[in-house]
Amino acid sequence: MSRVRHERLCILSRQKSLYSTARLVEVAEALGARPIVMDTLRCTMVVGPGGSKLLYRGVAVEGLSAVIPRIGTSVTAYGMQVVNQLDSMGVPVVNRASAIARSRDKVRCLQLLAAGNVAVPRTVMASDTSHIVRLVEAVGGLPCVIKLLRGTQGVGVMLATTMTEARTIVDTFTSLGQEICLQEFIAESSGRDVRALVVGDRVVGAMRRQARAGEFRSNIHRGGEGSPMTLEPAYRETAVKAAKLVGLDICGVDMLEGRDGPRVMELNSSPGFEGLERATKQDVASEMVKFALEVAARPRS
Ligand SMILES: Nc1ncnc2c1ncn2[C@@H]1O[C@H](COP(=O)(O)OP(=O)(O)O)[C@@H](O)[C@H]1O
Ligand SMILES: [Mg+2]
Repeated sequence: MSRVRHERLCILSRQKSLYSTARLVEVAEALGARPIVMDTLRCTMVVGPGGSKLLYRGVAVEGLSAVIPRIGTSVTAYGMQVVNQLDSMGVPVVNRASAIARSRDKVRCLQLLAAGNVAVPRTVMASDTSHIVRLVEAVGGLPCVIKLLRGTQGVGVMLATTMTEARTIVDTFTSLGQEICLQEFIAESSGRDVRALVVGDRVVGAMRRQARAGEFRSNIHRGGEGSPMTLEPAYRETAVKAAKLVGLDICGVDMLEGRDGPRVMELNSSPGFEGLERATKQDVASEMVKFALEVAARPRS
C-alpha cells in the first residue's frame, strides 16, 4: 500500500459534485491515493521550446500518476486536447484521446466493431438523402431508428414508423446541419437493453435497462430503470471485445438483446455510473480507481 499512498490521481471533470466524479474521489481517498479534480476548461496547454506543460488555474501541474478523463460531450474537442497534452507529457491516461474521439462518433464506432466481427445493428449513413426509401430499405425497412451521430442520453434517437416520418426527420436534421444515421430497429429488444461497464479487460458491472411505458429508449436519463443482471458469457465477451476494438480502457457498452445475441449500439467513454451502482449495489468506482493505479504502476513505454 505504500506505493498507493503517494499516487496523485487526477480526475478531469467539469464538476466535483457530479455523482461519478464525487464517487471516484471518495474511493481514491479510501484507497490511500491523493485525488485531484481538475476542471477540463480550466486547464491551459503550453507547447513549444522547453517541453509541453499543462497549467491548472495558471500553475504548472506536475507529478500526476494517472488521469481518468470524464469528458462530457459539450467539451469533447477541448477535452481531447487536454487529454492529449497529458498523454504527450507521459502521464498515463485512461482513456486515451484517440479512443474517446472514436467512441463519440456512433458510425465510426460501429465501423470498427463490424470490422472486428462484433454484431451491430445494420446502419446507414448518407450525405445524399434524396432517396429516403432506398436508405430505409437498406436498414431493413420500417420501423427504423434515426439517430444523431453525436447524440447522448437518448436525445436525438427517434423511431420512424412511416416513410413520411422518416423523410421529415431526416430532412429536419439535415437542414439543421446535423449528421445522422439510419438504423435497423431491433424490435425484440424494444424498450430494453444491456449496459455493461468494462474496466481493463473485464466487465465490472452490468444492468438491464427498461424504458418507461410508451418509450423505446431505455436510457436512465429518459426515465429508464436499471436492474441487476448476470451477463451471459456472449454478452460479457462482446462487451470486452468491443472496448478493445475501439481502444477504450474504461467504457460503458450498450447492447441490444437481439434474437441471435448481443448487438452493440454504442460505447460511452465517460460512462456515468450512478444508475449502475444504485441498481447493482456494487462499488464500480473502486474498480476504476484500482485500474488507473495499476496502469500508473506499469513501466512507461
Ligand atoms: N437500433 C435500435 N433498435 C432498438 N432500440 C434502439 C436502437 N437504437 C437505440 N435504441 C434505444 O435507444 C436508446 C438510446 O440509443 P443510443 O444509440 O444508445 O443513443 P444515446 O447515445 O443517446 O444513448 C438505447 O439505449 C435503446 O434503448
Ligand atoms: Mg446509449
